[in-house]
Amino acid sequence: MNKPNIVVIGSINMDLVTETERFPARGETVIGQKFRQVPGGKGANQAVAASRLGASVSLIGAIGDDSLGESLKSNLINEKIDIQGLHTIPNQASGIAQITVAEEDNSIIVIPGANAWFTPEMLVEHEELLAKADMIMLQLEIPLETVEKALDLAARHQVPVILNPAPAQELSAELLHKVTYLTPNETELALLSSTLLKNDYDFSTAVQSLLDQGVKQVITTRGSRGAFFYDKNRWELQRSFSVGVVDTTGAGDAFNGGLAVALAKRQPLHEAVRFASAVGALAVTKWGAQSGMPTESDVDQFLAERDDGR
Ligand code: RIB
Repeated sequence: MNKPNIVVIGSINMDLVTETERFPARGETVIGQKFRQVPGGKGANQAVAASRLGASVSLIGAIGDDSLGESLKSNLINEKIDIQGLHTIPNQASGIAQITVAEEDNSIIVIPGANAWFTPEMLVEHEELLAKADMIMLQLEIPLETVEKALDLAARHQVPVILNPAPAQELSAELLHKVTYLTPNETELALLSSTLLKNDYDFSTAVQSLLDQGVKQVITTRGSRGAFFYDKNRWELQRSFSVGVVDTTGAGDAFNGGLAVALAKRQPLHEAVRFASAVGALAVTKWGAQSGMPTESDVDQFLAERDDGR
């Protein structure tokens, strides 16, 4: 097959990352080890993941007219991402994320900046790009009305959509109905289904409620427990690969990028989820949301060497 054609519609941030041994408690000051400023944003991260995996990727989104915007734009060009859909918003700052990396985990505060000014009207300008896509990828760091417009355009042109519902927020049944693949983590699943997830029964009830609302497939990432999905009338578990964790920032984005590429290549769902899990596993072995994204040959080699995760 030719290179799959993926269109990502989403956020572009500059990540301001501090590394510290432990998270500070509320009201506490701790001395950290390192500070770095690197490109991030769920949309941009997913675009970079898919591009490194060999897809032809366009990113539609917004940056501010500041120096951060300039460097975010150059980074996308370096990552071979098509930016004809990139809008520069006058008199707005680019989005930033303040990230703390500690204890094999992270915490993130996002200030959306220009991402919040990415309107449905801007998106409509790129309808032709969307119509030609093999897969559209969405997350929730841009205005919800722009996400809704993207789903409408995808439906009009019959392009499948992966919606990664992060950061968590409630979504209407009308919106969910237009989603082909929904990829929540457990927190997002609980919120979307209004279910307290105390056990596996709650978990499957929560997924079922989303399927009942019209989502075609729900693939839930459950950290070290792996990825759960319902395929051909039965529950499937893709176990997570055990790797040395350096930085979990962007792990979900890596998973989604891998899933998009594999599904756009028409791989069966279980193979696509295995591939995505390997991409997510490799991403956490390196520092940074985007710098850790593996290439297609990294993933092939990793899968050839590993038979855990089965
Ligand atoms: O998913 C990780 C991303 O979330 C970071 O890169 C940060 O920018 C926030 O958008």
